[in-house]
Formats: sequence, C-alpha cells, structure tokens
Amino acid sequence: MSNSNNLSLDKKNIDTILVLDFGSQYTQLIARRIRDLNVFSVILPWDVSTEKIKSLNPKGVILSGGPESVTESNTPRIPEIIFELDVPVLGICYGMQTLAEQFGGQVSSSKNKEFGHAQILLKKSSLLFDGFSSGSSIDVWMSHGDHVSTLPDQFSLIASTASAPIVAMEHLQKPIFALQFHPEVTHTKQGNTVLENFTFKICMCAAQWKMENLIEQRINEIKETVGDQKVLLGLSGGVDSSVTAMLLDQAIGKNLICVFVDNGLLRKNEAEDVENLFKDKMDLNLLVVDAKKAFYRHLKGISDPEQKRKIIGRTFIDIFDNEAAKLKDEINFLAQGTIYPDVIESSESESKEARVIKSHHNVGGLPDDMKMELVEPLRDLFKDEVRTMGSELGLPLEMLNRHPFPGPGLGVRILGEISQEKVLILQNADAIFIEELIKAGLYDHVSQAFCAFLPIKSVGVVGDERRYADVIAIRAVETVDFMTATWARLPYDFLAHVSNRIVNELEGVSRVVYDISSKPPATIEWE
Ligand code: XMP
Repeated sequence: MSNSNNLSLDKKNIDTILVLDFGSQYTQLIARRIRDLNVFSVILPWDVSTEKIKSLNPKGVILSGGPESVTESNTPRIPEIIFELDVPVLGICYGMQTLAEQFGGQVSSSKNKEFGHAQILLKKSSLLFDGFSSGSSIDVWMSHGDHVSTLPDQFSLIASTASAPIVAMEHLQKPIFALQFHPEVTHTKQGNTVLENFTFKICMCAAQWKMENLIEQRINEIKETVGDQKVLLGLSGGVDSSVTAMLLDQAIGKNLICVFVDNGLLRKNEAEDVENLFKDKMDLNLLVVDAKKAFYRHLKGISDPEQKRKIIGRTFIDIFDNEAAKLKDEINFLAQGTIYPDVIESSESESKEARVIKSHHNVGGLPDDMKMELVEPLRDLFKDEVRTMGSELGLPLEMLNRHPFPGPGLGVRILGEISQEKVLILQNADAIFIEELIKAGLYDHVSQAFCAFLPIKSVGVVGDERRYADVIAIRAVETVDFMTATWARLPYDFLAHVSNRIVNELEGVSRVVYDISSKPPATIEWE
C-alpha cells in the first residue's frame, strides 16, 4: 500500500550509539539510559544487514546481553562489520562473552546461575571506570549463567568478584571494553557513570539529543519530505497520534488532514473533547466522522470477543478508507503515530524490515491506487520522549497523562453483545469512577482504571420494588509494562462512594463490584 519513508532513522548528522541486540530483556533500557544522557541511540538486531549498520554511522557500539550461551554452536556472534567500523565497543553480559570468545578467550558455563547483587573489585584503572579509584569496590547487578574463564590474548583484566575472576576487561590497544554485570539497571548504583564514561570519554559523543532541537529537526524533516503536498492522519485522541498531529501541524499547517472516527465505543464526551481541542482550540484541519450507527449495526448479535475485535477493526478500516478515497486526488502521505517500542517489539520483524501498520488503529486496507508514503515522525521515540515532546508542543496534561484505552474501546468492556443503551450506561459509570479518582488524587497513582459492563441481571430494591438490572465492575490496576499487573488497593471509603454514586445515578445498574484479580492469571480488560 505504501512505500516506506524512514523519516528519522538514518541520521548521519547526529552522534549515535548503536545498541546491538542479542535478545536481552534490558536492551531497551540500555538505549533509554544513553538517551537520558542526551545522546541518540538506536537498537538493531545482531544479524541486521551491514548496510543498515553503516548507514547509521555510529560513534560507538554497545553489545547487549542475551539469553543464549556462546558455549553452544549456532548462537549469535558479533558481525565483522562492527570491528571494521573502528569505533569503541562495549560488550555487556552475553555481549562480553561473545566478544571474549571471538577474540580467542574462553567462556564456561556455571552450574549455578548468578542473579542479583554482587560487589566487584577494581583491579586497575580504566577510562571506562574513570572517577573510581583502583582498589575500590562497586555494587552491581548480575544476571548470567556463563562467564569468561580465560582472558583473550590482547585483553587485560579490569575487575573481579569473589565468584567470577573476570567481570570487566579491556583490549590493550583498541577501545573495546566488556562487562559481565549490567550497568543499565538501577540496581547497579554507579552504572550511569560507567555508561557516561563510555559515551562521552571513550566515544566522544556530543550531547545533541535534546527535545527542543528534536522538535525543530523533526519539523524541518517533515517540511523537506512533504513540501507543499497533503498528509492524512488517523487521529485517535491518544498521546501518539495527538503528538504526531501537533508536530505535523507545526510543519505543514492546513496541509494536514486529520480524520477522527467516532465508533460509538469511546469514553463519555470523547469525540466532543477531541473536536473541541484540535478543531476549535488548535484550529487543525479535522474531520470527525460519526460512524456510530455503522459500528452498532455490524456488531448487532455478536457476542464473541475476538469476533467483536475483528468487526471493530474492519469497520474502522472501511470507514477510514472511504474517507481517504474521497480525498484521494489530494493526498500523497499517510501519517502514523508509530513509536519506537512498536518498531522494536521483536528484533525479527526489524531484521526482516517488516513494516507493521500500528495494529490498534488498523489502517491497513487503503485502496491500491492510493500510492501514499508513510510519515512516522515519532518512529524512533520512546513513550516518555513522546510525552515530553507533547508537553513542549502544548498538549494538555490531562491528555498526556491519560490512562491507555484499547483500540476496540468499550467494545471489549461490554461483555457479550453491544448495544447503544449499554454503551450509555457504561460511559456514565466510567465517567463517575474517573471523576472521583481525579477528585481523590488517585488517578495518577493507578496505571489504568475503568468500568466494565456485566450483562447479568441482579436484583436490587428501589423503594418497595424489586428491580433486576445489570452489574458494573470497577477495575483499577498498577503496572509498569502492562504485561503483569496487580489490582489497586483503593480505599474502602472511596469505593463505597463510587458505588453509591453509580447505583443511585444510573437506573440500569443494580450493583457494583470491585475486581480484585491480578494479571496473570486475569488480564486487565474483561474480554
Ligand atoms: P490485557 O487485557 O491484555 O491488556 O491485560 C493489556 C493492555 O492492552 C490493552 N488492550 C488492548 N489494546 N486493542 C488495544 O489497542 C485491544 O484489543 C486490547 N486489548 C487489551 C489494555 O487496555 C491494557 O492496557
């Protein structure tokens, strides 16, 4: 459907550290830490093409850890191009082990895996440990099974622990360093100093990755790529697409056409809020498509969750494509709020150069005769960098800090068949819960909070009459990565107040329950 247009990844003009990924759970963290030092960093899988590495023109390379063992054949190795670049290299954990092996040292598997805190003792001074004196000890975080048992010929020892004789080493002539421990995790107390030394004193990077430069640079890039042509953006009201809209607005103004599809499964007043902010206040070229009826029609009689998801996704595509087709003679570019974690979710997809259309927005079936190029100005940013950018561009705080909302919206929070009446009840219940959370100062203490609609008639008494009505479940969770989550311990008095308001104010609700399931085994959403 589209030609890829890597707006921002191939930057030769900014000092860059390449993080070569061997599959560690900490790889993204390494890249984050480097960016926190205001230096740009990019993650690429270890088996990426030579051309891609060369095009990045990195000033240094960090080899990540990884789950495999270099003692086994057919495990990942550092590609030759890394050494041909003739830039500093820092191997971490698996990165150290494969470095040692490739330089002729030996790696042994330990019977006991070392996992947790350790103290390393510095045996000699090294630029990597500049600021620490020889003989001092440092608290570090270890997580490994294998270790380097024999130093490669041209390397010298920097540090040891009681259980592992070689935990840090450096090449005698070249700027090649390696660490068995993880400087990127916060448990390694002075890990940042080590990364700072590598970045600034060894790679000699300049701190150029600053938000104000970045916004200006992105605006210029968009202007250069797009010129006076038109760009279409599916705006969802979430942080990523909103920041994309604001950036494009600054770059090309009215040549940006935003389409917001009201699928009838949004939070209370959401469509109005988006229109109010982007159209009325910010004067963006925004088209709001009221597609509620089409969504409800297609969802009628459907109660299977996965089928509902599919129908919602497909209906969205149809409606968005329909709008796009109306503009087809005008539009040359399709903008998306793709962010870095969407791109690097699996190194496999990156190495195969897969262009994954952001699944939540499901813009995937545009007509073949629409030859639109993709514009993804946030493609190399982490979520918190997107938030910082949004804040600098003037996106209101309540939008920046909003809890995530699933693409299928209330469609997966109304169990079973969806109807407009159920949507209305759920929107009102949810609005009460969120309003009270904000009032109580609890909203920012939980990661995601919402109500779900349970279509089970339960009895209640109103006046002298028994009334059978549906049930509202309240859900609030605390989580860092949304892969696991614990239910939030909200105060009883607070829950009592929310429950009272919901059953008293909403006729279709007979009782309120609080979901006390953690993930796993439960999921965050109810369907
Ligand atoms: P679960 O329910 O899997 O949710 O624990 C984890 C996170 O993902 C969100 N979620 C979705 N987001 N489309 C989305 O865009 C979906 O179908 C979907 N299902 C769950 C959920 O809100 C939570 O933040």
